[in-house]
Amino acid sequence: MLEALDELKADGLAGIETVADTEALEMWRIRFLGAKGRLKAIMPRIKGVPPAQRPEVGRRLNAVKRSLQSAYERKSAEVAAGAAAGAEIDVTEPGIPVGLGRRHIITRTIDEIVEVFGRMGFCVASGPEVEDEWHNFDALNIGPDHPAREPSDNFYLAGGLMLRSQTSTVQIRTMALTKPPLRVVAIGRVYRPDTHDATHYSMFHQVEGLYVDEGVTMVDLKTTLFQFARAYLGPEAEVRMRPSFFPFTEPSAEVDMKMKVKGRYQWVEMGGCGMVDPNVFEAVGYDPEHWTGFAFGLGIERIAMRKYGIADIRWLFENDARFLRQF
Ligand code: DAH
Repeated sequence: MLEALDELKADGLAGIETVADTEALEMWRIRFLGAKGRLKAIMPRIKGVPPAQRPEVGRRLNAVKRSLQSAYERKSAEVAAGAAAGAEIDVTEPGIPVGLGRRHIITRTIDEIVEVFGRMGFCVASGPEVEDEWHNFDALNIGPDHPAREPSDNFYLAGGLMLRSQTSTVQIRTMALTKPPLRVVAIGRVYRPDTHDATHYSMFHQVEGLYVDEGVTMVDLKTTLFQFARAYLGPEAEVRMRPSFFPFTEPSAEVDMKMKVKGRYQWVEMGGCGMVDPNVFEAVGYDPEHWTGFAFGLGIERIAMRKYGIADIRWLFENDARFLRQF
């Protein structure tokens, strides 16, 4: 029995020397220390040992078991360290692919639009999304009884605040801070309690333009929009203005742009524009007898959805990478 134990120990220690990886180590463990391994197999034999020798055999058995177990622990630390060290230096291992991010299609559209207006000398202005009614309505010549102020059409907050419903607020904020002449675009989110469907969402983006100088006319307005359309939508793009009404411009117009949609040119309604109303100049302390200006507001989602053939506005804000990855 003692010899058998010595042999088991010698075999075990010799065997573990050749172990180089986790797999081999596990096989060694099963073979020597496992439930059906050699150590377990030898244990019942102690019953056949004469009682006088049993204590010695018992001690030897325990010693063999301990030495196999500690050999196992040593090796397993060695194998783990080896694996870690190996990973550090094995430059032939295939790498873990790092997902390449990209800008959201709306962000990209915004950046491109800003770029085009930047080339025409427009600076970028900004304002808060949580606004007061003065900037969102009063200063824009939208009187207290105007239907655009209906609670059902706006997100009102406590304390006379609201989520802005249009980026025209930034016209007021910019003029209140800057002396004319000025040329700015403001891009940002606006909020309206619309029921979500393929073309409506309670939050969307607008680009607002404002140009104030001496002697600005509708020609400058249309030329600016036309230059934008050509630069952004392509050399065949065109601009059409239809008479309309906005409280903060006089005269006012709706802007359509002729752009390629699914390979075919068609008119797409983009937003509104007009000559800055004298009441707006008065609200910000500009002399309406001296200064003239134009303003426009276009919907970003509308532009992007037509340009990229996106059929449902909700897809833009679901953050489904399978959708966003396409652009
Ligand atoms: N703020 C308007 C809207 O949200 C769009 C607009 C129309 C902006 C005419 C303008 C403008 O600057 O001149 O419907």
